[in-house]
Amino acid sequence: MTRADPAVPHVCVRPLRQDDAADVLAAFRSAPDMARQGAVTTPAEADAYVARLVDPDGPHRPRALEERGQCVGLVAVSVDAAHRTGWFWYWTTAAARGRGLTQRAAATVADHELTAGGLHRLELGHRTNNPASGAVARAAGFVREGLEREKFLIDGVRVDVATYGRLRTDPPPSYRPLPIIER
Ligand SMILES: CC(C)(COP(=O)(O)OP(=O)(O)OC[C@H]1O[C@@H](n2cnc3c(N)ncnc32)[C@H](O)[C@@H]1OP(=O)(O)O)[C@@H](O)C(=O)NCCC(=O)NCCS
Repeated sequence: MTRADPAVPHVCVRPLRQDDAADVLAAFRSAPDMARQGAVTTPAEADAYVARLVDPDGPHRPRALEERGQCVGLVAVSVDAAHRTGWFWYWTTAAARGRGLTQRAAATVADHELTAGGLHRLELGHRTNNPASGAVARAAGFVREGLEREKFLIDGVRVDVATYGRLRTDPPPSYRPLPIIER
């Protein structure tokens, strides 16, 4: 699906929208590892997934990684307002991976949330057999904080989870920011 807006840069991060649901479904269908991001196998499930994230009364601040008018990824923060912390998470459709776009999007969003977004701490966890996710976290300035041993049982195998955090006071990473559009 292409909805390129000439006023918008080729690649940017901007709020997820309900009309991204078709691109979200395509992303979930693009790689088997997307199954762990949620149950999105039909247009109705994609609509419901996006609706839950964009609910203004919910805790989520979801941003699309947009390339040429298409939502090719998501960087989201699920906020705990009482503590001004956020659970940070991301995925990218298979065809857009491996080009450093997720790292740039994650770093851009993390910087924004820890400054204009008003949060003090961001945290995340990734399975240790998913090293690309750890590379994204480190590129976005997250510091490894621990290891949750044998946390998940996946296909009969126990898997460790590495935990990361980034504080407002931590040094920001060096990276090429993406334009961030708030609308
Ligand atoms: C994890 C994910 C978001 C990475 O997206 P991506 O667009 O490929 O990420 P980038 O291109 O920005 O960066 C990937 C980094 O991982 C590294 N990487 C990729 N595969 C790797 C591997 N098998 N071992 C070590 N590093 C690896 C790349 O080299 C790159 O790091 P570098 O720039 O330092 O070399 C993507 O694979 C995805 O959506 N996976 C499914 C959802 C998911 O796992 N989300 C995270 C949940 S915690």
